[in-house]
Amino acid sequence: MRYELALSSWGEEEIQAMQRVIDSKMFTMSTHVKQFEKDFAQKLGSSYAVMVNSGSSANLIGIAALCFKKKHPLKPGDEVIVPTIAWATTYYPLLQYGLKLRFIDIELETLNMDTSRLEEALTPKTKALVAVSILGNPCALDFMRNFCKKHDLYLFEDNCESLGARLNGKNCGTFGDIGTFSLFFSHHISTIEGGVCITDDEELYHLMLSLRSHGWTRHLPKPSPIYQEKSDDFFEAYQFILPGYNVRPTELSGAIGIEQLKKIDRFIAIRRDNGKEWNRLFRNDERFIIQKENGESSYFAFTLILNPKFSFNRQKILQILDQNKIQFRIITGGNFLRHDVIKYFNYECAHEIIHANTAHDFGFFVGNHPRNLKREINHLHTLLDEATQPVCL
Ligand SMILES: Cc1ncc(COP(=O)(O)O)c(C=O)c1O
Repeated sequence: MRYELALSSWGEEEIQAMQRVIDSKMFTMSTHVKQFEKDFAQKLGSSYAVMVNSGSSANLIGIAALCFKKKHPLKPGDEVIVPTIAWATTYYPLLQYGLKLRFIDIELETLNMDTSRLEEALTPKTKALVAVSILGNPCALDFMRNFCKKHDLYLFEDNCESLGARLNGKNCGTFGDIGTFSLFFSHHISTIEGGVCITDDEELYHLMLSLRSHGWTRHLPKPSPIYQEKSDDFFEAYQFILPGYNVRPTELSGAIGIEQLKKIDRFIAIRRDNGKEWNRLFRNDERFIIQKENGESSYFAFTLILNPKFSFNRQKILQILDQNKIQFRIITGGNFLRHDVIKYFNYECAHEIIHANTAHDFGFFVGNHPRNLKREINHLHTLLDEATQPVCL
């Protein structure tokens, strides 16, 4: 039995949507992307959505927008508090905009930032906090929001792994100044590649629209808080106001996104159902530390940390999974500080990092999909039972 990390969640509807785009001969960003943005913002309960070509691009233009705000922009040398486990491109835009990162440890149970350590990470230079809900599990967003309000910090929510998750009845991705999402293949909905930024702030919305498309003004609704037309149409067609990018999505992605979004509630319900089986089998089993749900997880994947006190051999266990066609990965890249790329960063750890290392050294995750996985999960459980038997000499 194969147990894949990710499978396609597309049906006939997505194929037909692509065909309609092909028939229209209009492939570059246009009405489908616009419609998807409208649907996405409405679904999440946000005022504005900007679709881009990846979650990484969403983080890039989101952080850039905070750096180009008229009032209180982020500036080189400002400090940003980040968790020690997140995706590489959660961190890169911070580096690229000259910000200094202050890492704080994660909680071993939720795998999210340990918010009890936030105060000690704060310095007079702290200007923002990056919240990352790992693998569908909401981080302490309500606490973080209050912390940011109290200390006048931006809250940037990289929600690329947790579309569909909720905390206290509120959608993850809507707690901060900007929330970002990835629509890559393995994610809760997929548009081939794709990403979205959401915000309730009109200025940030306009900044992101411009940054997405060369830094020009063409897609800005009028009147714009960031630009006043000053010349005739000839010059307005190519009017550059920001050092931006081209991270636009295609119409194909927009059209697929519209169809995928219609299915998301069902997808999440099935994922959560698989989560029940996962918890039934692995919760309260001393051998494993599994991710403890905070709020309502959208269960991107299932994590297992081999309890260090039993000295199980992870490599051997992973070999057995591999032989049995069960795919796995290190948890979101593990402790980011242990990647070579860290040498390019301006950073500090607010304290000794312990739990992220445990997750790095003893953990892994397996897939979850929007289809019934009870057989696969039970099969994995049986294999792990065998693999963790004490050896009798
Ligand atoms: C937390 C987080 N941020 C950003 C990204 C980047 O998304 P993308 O792969 O769409 O560029 C990912 C990717 O999975 C992620 O896990």
